[in-house]
Amino acid sequence: MRAIQIVELTGPDKALREVELPEPEASHALSPGDGVVVEVHAAGVSFPEVLQTRGEYQIKPDLPFVPGSEVAGIVRSASDGAAVKEGDRVAAFCMLGAFAETVAAPEWLTFPLADALDFAQGAGLILNYHTAYFALRLRGRLREGETVLVHGAAGGVGTATLQIAGGLGARTIAVVSTDEKERVAREAGADEVVRSDGPWKDQARELSDGGVDVVIDPVGGDRFTDSLRSLRENGRCVVVGFTGGSIPEVRVNRLLLNNIEIVGAGWGAYVMEKPELEREIGAAIARLVDEGHVRPIVGARFPFERAAEALQLIDSRGATGKVVLEFPRS
Ligand SMILES: NC(=O)c1ccc[n+]([C@@H]2O[C@H](COP(=O)([O-])OP(=O)(O)OC[C@H]3O[C@@H](n4cnc5c(N)ncnc54)[C@H](OP(=O)(O)O)[C@@H]3O)[C@@H](O)[C@H]2O)c1
Repeated sequence: MRAIQIVELTGPDKALREVELPEPEASHALSPGDGVVVEVHAAGVSFPEVLQTRGEYQIKPDLPFVPGSEVAGIVRSASDGAAVKEGDRVAAFCMLGAFAETVAAPEWLTFPLADALDFAQGAGLILNYHTAYFALRLRGRLREGETVLVHGAAGGVGTATLQIAGGLGARTIAVVSTDEKERVAREAGADEVVRSDGPWKDQARELSDGGVDVVIDPVGGDRFTDSLRSLRENGRCVVVGFTGGSIPEVRVNRLLLNNIEIVGAGWGAYVMEKPELEREIGAAIARLVDEGHVRPIVGARFPFERAAEALQLIDSRGATGKVVLEFPRS
């Protein structure tokens, strides 16, 4: 099969090579001896793959390796008793190996793909939406009627967070940096949009009548202290990532003075040993798809052999929604 490997840690421009590899067996590191083999129609591209081309992500496989954590495609084989069978359309989280024509994923991380979604949307359904649900509901304890401030709101995690929050009955305020990203955040259902280079903290406090209940922060960096200042009493700031480039430090007296919380949300590390929880999250997202709240926004599609361009788009802060690689299929 054709695949894209990271062969050196020199960044998105030079790190990738197209190679020919043997097809994977029906086994996955998370479920040795068992796995669903998927014919890949679309592979999701995300920030971690950019970091992996520089050796800067927490998962650091030996070189060379095939990157890519999620796909959508058609089941080629599944074991007896699996929730999916040969011929089914699915979205699957394989952790690594997605930039290839065929991949194996654990059965419990393979979900039926609703007819309402195409393969490109399916390739954006697991990492971002499971993270968003985990961050909002399980870590941020979001309740219906609350207000959520979403940083990086036109990005992959951001658009997913806007849709899930809306589906859970929350009001959303999106923080974005450009007109185009404002358009994407509104398309993802943002109730209000504010600019990251403007007085967003004061606007958020005003729009939420004194402070938001939850902040979802995949960006970090300088804006973190203002995120804490935008919370109301009992508010929760959920740390999801650091696309801004720096990991903020906090004077914890702010938490005491304002009776607020900072909560970490690392979806992968949390669910990888908990198949039952993952099935529950998958079922909750399937309901939100059925109800029409979840429709992944695909901001850019590249043919599989142009993976480097897909990574460069994310690296240059130019991506909106989900970036996907597509595989030609007859
Ligand atoms: N915790 C978890 O379980 C988990 C799961 C998935 C992803 N993540 C992390 O979440 C973060 C976001 O992922 P994503 O897929 O949503 O990324 P993305 O699609 O590239 O979006 C990231 C957003 O960050 C904002 N940003 C601010 N400063 C930036 C900078 N200097 N460079 C690039 N972007 C910048 C951009 O919005 P503006 O231009 O509008 O500011 C951009 O839209 C990543 O760090 C990823 O590793 C965490």
